[in-house]
Amino acid sequence: MHHFDLKDGVLHAEGVSLEALADSVGTPTYVYSSATLRRHYGLLREACDAHRGALGDALIAFAVKANSNLSVLATLAKLGCGADTVSEGEIRRALTAGIPGERIIFSGVGKTDAELAFAIEQGVRQINVESSTELDRLIAVAATKNAAPAIAIRVNPKIGAGGHAKITTGGAGDKFGVPVEEAMALYARVSSSPHVTPVGLACHIGSQITDLAPLEAAFRVLRDMTDALRAQGRSVTRLDLGGGLGVPYYGDAATPSPADYVAMAARVLEGLNVEAAFEPGRLMAANAGVLLSRVIQVNERTDGRRFLVLDAAMNDLMRPALYDAFHDLKPVRPVEGELLPHDVVGPVCETGDTFARDRDLPPLKAGDLVVFMSAGAYGAVMSGEYNTRPLAAEVLVDGERSAVIRPRPTYEAMFAREPMADWLKD
Ligand code: LLP
Repeated sequence: MHHFDLKDGVLHAEGVSLEALADSVGTPTYVYSSATLRRHYGLLREACDAHRGALGDALIAFAVKANSNLSVLATLAKLGCGADTVSEGEIRRALTAGIPGERIIFSGVGKTDAELAFAIEQGVRQINVESSTELDRLIAVAATKNAAPAIAIRVNPKIGAGGHAKITTGGAGDKFGVPVEEAMALYARVSSSPHVTPVGLACHIGSQITDLAPLEAAFRVLRDMTDALRAQGRSVTRLDLGGGLGVPYYGDAATPSPADYVAMAARVLEGLNVEAAFEPGRLMAANAGVLLSRVIQVNERTDGRRFLVLDAAMNDLMRPALYDAFHDLKPVRPVEGELLPHDVVGPVCETGDTFARDRDLPPLKAGDLVVFMSAGAYGAVMSGEYNTRPLAAEVLVDGERSAVIRPRPTYEAMFAREPMADWLKD
């Protein structure tokens, strides 16, 4: 569900015409809808609140990696949303956007000592520990601060799932978390440590998961472990269920609803008396954003291939190049005419800079505006400046209002980041 609809023959983000935005801000530009972000948070919040008995006062911690723009985070912060973070930078962003430390979870497979120290200083809610070596380092860092941060052990349940091998994280061979037996041993080991406070377990098995079964299986592993730890006299008060629920990238794709997902979690945790946390990224942000782009030209070859060349490229939206991901492409003004197969490409000098092959599209022409749908998660955050293409601008819409929340950098600003070596200056 999103708020990008046709009004008077022009695609709008809520009350703002994307044509008008393209004229004022230029292209390529990411455009986000506040109403969609709020709606997604609201649906999850409602579902969690309906299952307070089983999930406690559940924390919804937005996975900042999905969209870390400060205004996007601030929109969610105002709703009471928390943050799942994986670097000092992400913790700083969450704090800057108004998400308090007590709603920030720090995850990640390779946290440095400096990052662990920073997280402790900021009083984050919990640090999700992913290995025994990290645990040793955390204890050492906490000892120097005379602290005892709350930790959860991230379990690798040997259940991988997700839309692509590169975004599956819960499989036995994946680098994330520790196997069940090791997690049990670590929990026992730290239960007597004065420098960490084990509060529970965490898992995250993958992303763009479109079937609840693997998620349910993973949650059951956490439940069984909780029972076993408690039988050993350990305290387990929180379960972090990760993120991963998929979104419909195709218009007609069916994905489990947030309500069904939360209800399933509640069923699994019923009677355990723990506080749950969810770490949704894509679910919150994907359909809250589009990438607005202009057609540079259409290359029609004599051999019949037709290339739609856009001013957006793989450096702006990497998902198709990286994961063969599908993003629906819509004209900002609907175009009449026969649908014909197009290869949709950007100007970057690589064949990988192909958004879609043989996509059926109406006859678009130079200057027309198009949007990639569902680009609000893992879009702008993964962009770069390859081919010295300035980062796409980002705009946030709220009703009739719009604001540029990341301006397109000037070439001067880009080059100013690269001071010339002294000996090359004249
Ligand atoms: N929690 C943890 C520990 C994670 O590693 C992730 C995502 C999430 C939560 C949020 O997952 P989500 O709800 O968004 O599925 N760049 C890829 C996706 C990578 C996801 C990495 N981890 C893509 O564009 O598809």
